[in-house]
Amino acid sequence: MYKTQIAPSLLSSDFGHLAEEISALESAGADILHLDVMDGHFVPNLSFGFPLIQTIRKLTALPLDVHLMVTNPEFHVPQLIDVGVQWISFHQETVHHSHRLINKIKEHGIKAGIALNPATPINTLESILPWLDYVLVMSVNPGYSAQAFIPQMLEKIQHLAEYRAAKGLSFHIEIDGGVSNSNAEALRKAGADILVSASYIFSSHNYSQAIQALRH
Ligand code: DX5
Ligand code: ZN
Repeated sequence: MYKTQIAPSLLSSDFGHLAEEISALESAGADILHLDVMDGHFVPNLSFGFPLIQTIRKLTALPLDVHLMVTNPEFHVPQLIDVGVQWISFHQETVHHSHRLINKIKEHGIKAGIALNPATPINTLESILPWLDYVLVMSVNPGYSAQAFIPQMLEKIQHLAEYRAAKGLSFHIEIDGGVSNSNAEALRKAGADILVSASYIFSSHNYSQAIQALRH
């Protein structure tokens, strides 16, 4: 239902040459930049926060998609709104008042999404789906790049896409974790329209070819 968009995750980029990395991704045809924010609490790793996101904002006009892997996303959303990102997702496992937070994000014209850990069923989203711009399906346990894709998540995408069609909804389906040329086609066919990828793209010698391989 949507054109496939490729969202490289900067988690596997060379942070010592961030400006060059971002400009290489722009030239290679990236549609969105995916930024993984980790708090060392909801997930067992720390990544980066606002100073770096502000720097990235100045380096590119590409849409920024912030994936909050933090215990208290409501603390951080106001600052992200100020930075001027285009997409914000937080985890279903972290919030009591997802409807309130989704509305807060959308009030500012930002696309709002909810992320699901591999073990969290899609039916936990049933009541909020009409408000969502996207659902981020995690196909690894969040916290690190370069983990193996969990194959059962393909069926989760299929069920979500079937539900979307049955209810006439229009949220995007984003898949994140272990995405590569070996599973991209199956993911697209299952219904994913935003493909996040860190290690596959950054370990390739040609970002453009890697992005094309995910897209087609
Ligand atoms: C994992 C992050 C992912 C990660 C993807 O917690 O949410 O976005 O960077 O990395 P790959 O594509 O290497 O699995
Ligand atoms: Zn992510």
